[in-house]
Amino acid sequence: MGHILIQNITKEYVNRRRRPRNGEDNTRDEVLTVLDNVNLEFQDGEMVCILGPSGCGKSTLLRMIAGFDTPSSGQILIDGRQVTAPSADIIFVFQHNGLLPWMTVWENVELGLRNMQDEEEKSAQIQEFINMVELAGFENHYPSQLSGGMQRRAELARALAVNPEMLIMDEPFNGLDFLTHMKMREEVVNMHEFIAKTTLMVTHDIDDALVMGDRIVVMGDRPTQVKLVRKLEMGRPRNLDRDPELAALRDELFFMLGVSYAV
Ligand SMILES: Nc1ncnc2c1ncn2[C@@H]1O[C@H](COP(=O)(O)OP(=O)(O)OP(=O)(O)O)[C@@H](O)[C@H]1O
Ligand SMILES: [Mg+2]
Repeated sequence: MGHILIQNITKEYVNRRRRPRNGEDNTRDEVLTVLDNVNLEFQDGEMVCILGPSGCGKSTLLRMIAGFDTPSSGQILIDGRQVTAPSADIIFVFQHNGLLPWMTVWENVELGLRNMQDEEEKSAQIQEFINMVELAGFENHYPSQLSGGMQRRAELARALAVNPEMLIMDEPFNGLDFLTHMKMREEVVNMHEFIAKTTLMVTHDIDDALVMGDRIVVMGDRPTQVKLVRKLEMGRPRNLDRDPELAALRDELFFMLGVSYAV
């Protein structure tokens, strides 16, 4: 489970121009080609980090994999089955502010386990996930009573509880301070090692991709094609300053994303 095949995906958005009032219509709808014949394959259990310029279609691609949007042509297969609609059991989408504000940390995590019958076992599991993300003592807090980093950790605990076939994260570390970002990176790597589920993460941070990814995908400018797919063979934890191979790849990625001074 957790194999994703993206075949010849093209995505166009039609932006309707406003019609003039007098009825004469010299305007045409504008077609924006976002993704242009994209082919990708993700293996079961892989952690894939996706980089690319703003507006190139990364979120669009994730939305289509999760079934919230449909390609204009081509198809997406998950374990051989075409994606046609969202499926909460298969994919957990990790979002900013994904917690329900009127529920406590405990209740938010419990949501992921609502199919579990045995109350005692359920409580033990909830506590285990909360402990795992180091939120013990905050079970009865509401999201608004937590810091940004704690909220993300609570979301991670919920993702663990849902135990989906795959995890999709769209810039999950946005807005976190530097240290919390570093810690969350570690948490996600640990979680990925623990659950061993296919994880797709869009990030603007090249170091996230280098530290976390089993594979890195770089997308180009619109109309977007895949510019690079690179498998990272080195184990973790990874040290960007001490591993010359990673340092070289870092320069290459910066260059590819249009930042040449770093090279
Ligand atoms: N529903 C929509 N209708 C029309 N155009 C859209 C729609 N959603 C996205 N787009 C356009 O598609 C392009 C890609 O958007 P998308 O959000 O996928 O980019 P992105 O790579 O995630 O960018 P960022 O890094 O800034 O988040 C953009 O030009 C955007 O304007
Ligand atoms: Mg986006």
